[in-house]
Amino acid sequence: MPFPVYRPRRLRESPLLRSMVRETSLRIDDFVYPLFAVHGRGLREPIGSMPGQYRLSIDELLKECKDAASMGIPAVLLFGLPRDKDPRGTEAYAEDGIIQQAVRAVKDTIPDLLVITDVCLCEYTSHGHCGVVEDGRIKNDPTLELIARTAVSHAEAGADLIAPSDMMDGRVAAIREGLDESGFPETPIMAYSAKYASAFYGPFREAADSTPQFGDRRSYQMDPANAMEAIREVALDVDEGADIVMVKPALPYLDVIARVKGEFGLPVAAYSVSGEYAMLKAAGQLGWLDEDRAVLEALTGIRRAGADIIITYFAKDVARLIEQGRA
Ligand code: PBG
Repeated sequence: MPFPVYRPRRLRESPLLRSMVRETSLRIDDFVYPLFAVHGRGLREPIGSMPGQYRLSIDELLKECKDAASMGIPAVLLFGLPRDKDPRGTEAYAEDGIIQQAVRAVKDTIPDLLVITDVCLCEYTSHGHCGVVEDGRIKNDPTLELIARTAVSHAEAGADLIAPSDMMDGRVAAIREGLDESGFPETPIMAYSAKYASAFYGPFREAADSTPQFGDRRSYQMDPANAMEAIREVALDVDEGADIVMVKPALPYLDVIARVKGEFGLPVAAYSVSGEYAMLKAAGQLGWLDEDRAVLEALTGIRRAGADIIITYFAKDVARLIEQGRA
């Protein structure tokens, strides 16, 4: 149907027509809001490179969770900053660790809010790596037991979903086995399956104090140049028992989100990471971009690529924009 028979502009004429033929929409039910928990009371420490985000003591975290739930956000993803760090990341799997306390408090106070926990060691280890270090190398197999212990301790505290982000080989199977043996066969795993070694995690590492003290994470996180490998990583996690698979970061990896969505019948999560947030916030604050519109466009793109679930620090902003009928 060539012009002038077909005129695509006919369907763009009015807002009602445009919304009638819109292919992608954002629903608040699909968003996850990440939060950082710290020991202490009455603490709400601003994170410099993430304006509007804070490190929260549990009392303040509860306020934030209530707020999020009242806006219709279904889930939070919790990260913790321990009191002390050591080479084996002991607080990650301690019964009274920061995350274990935070999960119990949130589930006691706001039982209807889903609590997802990030399972990793890097916030808890003195060297800042996601696994056990021996002879200057990050050891895969000795890490698995600690990762599984961490996951089980989160489930015991009441976590609704377990989200391993360490990128050790075999960790989904180790966690599934640990959960099943400990009486949590119903607890789902949302695996950070295609997690790239990304510069966009910079602000998060400031927030979570998790910068590696030597080297980098390229021996375990994926090379940003690889997409076929992402399919292999996802296939492994699916075989090992992942219930939801994740691609992370989101904006520079929309092709990977689309491929994963196309090849697997599982829900796909996309993590729009700290650097994506920082980038949009900074340009917004400088007046170089209309922040609200840029955020909606970026998140709509992630959804259009195929993400079923979007993890973003903008979750509350999105809830407000949907409420105002702007999304
Ligand atoms: C822990 C972890 C990281 C992020 C989520 N879980 C940091 C990293 O791998 O260095 C990044 C999240 C973000 O940047 O928003 N391994």
